[in-house]
Amino acid sequence: MVNNAIDHSGSPDVIVSMRRNALFTTAAVVDHGEGIFLKIQKALGLYDTREAILELAKGKLTTDPENHTGEGIFFSSRVFDLFDIRSGALHFMHDAGLSDVLIERPKDAAGTLVIMRVDNDSARTTQEVFDTFAAPEEYTFAKTIVPVKLAQYEGEKLVSRSQARRLTMRFERFQTVILDFDGVAEIGQAFADEVLRVFQNAHPNTKLIPTHMTPAVENMVERATSGR
Ligand SMILES: Nc1ncnc2c1ncn2[C@@H]1O[C@H](COP(=O)(O)OP(=O)(O)OP(=O)(O)O)[C@@H](O)[C@H]1O
Ligand SMILES: [Mg+2]
Repeated sequence: MVNNAIDHSGSPDVIVSMRRNALFTTAAVVDHGEGIFLKIQKALGLYDTREAILELAKGKLTTDPENHTGEGIFFSSRVFDLFDIRSGALHFMHDAGLSDVLIERPKDAAGTLVIMRVDNDSARTTQEVFDTFAAPEEYTFAKTIVPVKLAQYEGEKLVSRSQARRLTMRFERFQTVILDFDGVAEIGQAFADEVLRVFQNAHPNTKLIPTHMTPAVENMVERATSGR
């Protein structure tokens, strides 16, 4: 994360702090640069800054492919028990055991703040985290878990083909994409058709695996996949 501040933020300084209590250890890395979400939004030409969070959650996202692979935040967020990025008005939190959330912050703050917390008695190893997302017998980054909820903004429903394309953007870089529908009550027919039939037919080498579906979501997914 310190290297991220150095290579990507354009900040003149970076502040690192660490605190340890009886239960856990928390580290924070702060810079006063461009801001991570804004930087990603600009580089990818995203319509909404919130889409930057969805892209980070997918993994393999880098704005500097010559020098980077886009694995830093994806894997760091899963090694820690709590991983938190705040920048501008947005706040991305990954809590082990809970699903990813997007919280909107009231006011714009400059730069990027990354907070990482690990339980002092954590038994998690970096190797097991890498193995979770690798293809069997390989060391590649082949699999990802995408919280579909991040494509759904407050007060919106996932109904359209354009929302679906936002979700499936860059999916073809993975062999397996687990679609985690946690927090999504229902989806529309066109959305489901675009993801599970149109995208899937166009990219047969990427396997889509939906999980945590409500009966309403499952019904739409079944309709779309039976039409393939
Ligand atoms: N502190 C920051 N300020 C501005 N942008 C950032 C910052 N940290 C990360 N980013 C943006 O987020 C992207 C993803 O970061 P991540 O660490 O996951 O990948 P990477 O640094 O590009 O590649 P790798 O970590 O594998 O070398 C970066 O390419 C950059 O665009
Ligand atoms: Mg990095």
